[in-house]
Amino acid sequence: MSDLAMLRGEFAQRFGGEPAFYQAPGRVNLIGEYTDYNGGFVMPAAIGFFTTVAIRPRSDRRLRVHSLNIAKTVELDLETLRTTQLPRRGQPHWSNYVAGVARSLLLHGVDLQGADLLIHGEVPIGSGLSSSAALELACALALADTAGASLEPQTLALLCQQAENQFVGTRCGIMDQFASACGRAGHALLIDCRSTEYRLLPLEAQMRSPDDLAAVRLVICNTEVRHHHASGEYNRRREQCELAVQYLNGIAGSVTSLRDVSLEMLQAQRGGMKDVIFRRSRHVVEENARVEGAAQALAESNLGRFGEYMYASHRSLRDDFEVSCLELDLMVRLATEIDGVYGARMTGGGFGGCTVNLVRDDAVERFSALVGERYRHATGRESQIYVCGSVDGVARVAA
Ligand code: GLA
Repeated sequence: MSDLAMLRGEFAQRFGGEPAFYQAPGRVNLIGEYTDYNGGFVMPAAIGFFTTVAIRPRSDRRLRVHSLNIAKTVELDLETLRTTQLPRRGQPHWSNYVAGVARSLLLHGVDLQGADLLIHGEVPIGSGLSSSAALELACALALADTAGASLEPQTLALLCQQAENQFVGTRCGIMDQFASACGRAGHALLIDCRSTEYRLLPLEAQMRSPDDLAAVRLVICNTEVRHHHASGEYNRRREQCELAVQYLNGIAGSVTSLRDVSLEMLQAQRGGMKDVIFRRSRHVVEENARVEGAAQALAESNLGRFGEYMYASHRSLRDDFEVSCLELDLMVRLATEIDGVYGARMTGGGFGGCTVNLVRDDAVERFSALVGERYRHATGRESQIYVCGSVDGVARVAA
């Protein structure tokens, strides 16, 4: 968690006065990748990296926003924000998230008031751990609360996704914002992204080694290769999924998303589909089944089976959906070489970023040392390895 005393001092110096604090977590996705915008299933958990916003209302209609990470201030005018073209060219990229969220809230009918905001993010940026969703949710709750509007976490998540889709330009699904909004300590979320209904899966209780009930940890390995999904590959994958839906709907009818497609139906249509579109679709259809299988395995504390689904998910993301990279593949391979590892896969949008690993508690130290050393040896890069607990979603925090 950010150091609130430090933020309070910075706030007083920069803007003056006593702020209120809000924080939202990043997330790791255990399984269910690129299924969210296909109406499918995902299994993320909110993790203990947070973005914190200190906020204090102003008497005018301006937002003054300072990012401590980037050491820059931007000013936004609430009167013109509804009609401003976003993303605002020439403005710092991060500020478009804040502007987008403010605009989504305004369009939703929240009567925002002017405010000073100080932002501090500790979710590693560009690592597939949803630093953008954490920024969006922390700002959304801070702005809504300051305006006296009380919105459900799910509604906040949808407004933040809308901000990212419409105003930042990434056509992301709902997973990241939903996890940052609705996360629960000690749990993962099993989200049906078509209905946005979700179930809490007790991780701490169920992640136990089958042999001796030793605790099993979520360990995240950061390749330190930055992803660039906004750069087009992410949106291109989404278009390919939409092409598949168009084609299959033309043949079978009543296909509104890849969620409506079975593996048999897909195999039967393979001959009429471009290979790349077929493979993208196969990933999504099989990944949905893997999430359901993994949830069942977790309910039975069968971590061996859960891990098999993770490895299969990684192979499919590498070969069919083609969103992995050499460093992620290497990280997963290194994990398989170590005793006490149940499963490993890339997590999030890919093209760099992180892997998520299930590791027996008593193997974590050895895992971290060996993976770190072998990764450095093979790539010349330092990796970061985090042992993560799952945490609650966005909230106001006491100063
Ligand atoms: C990014 C997006 C999510 C999701 C994942 C891939 O994190 O923001 O909506 O599509 O990629 O599963």
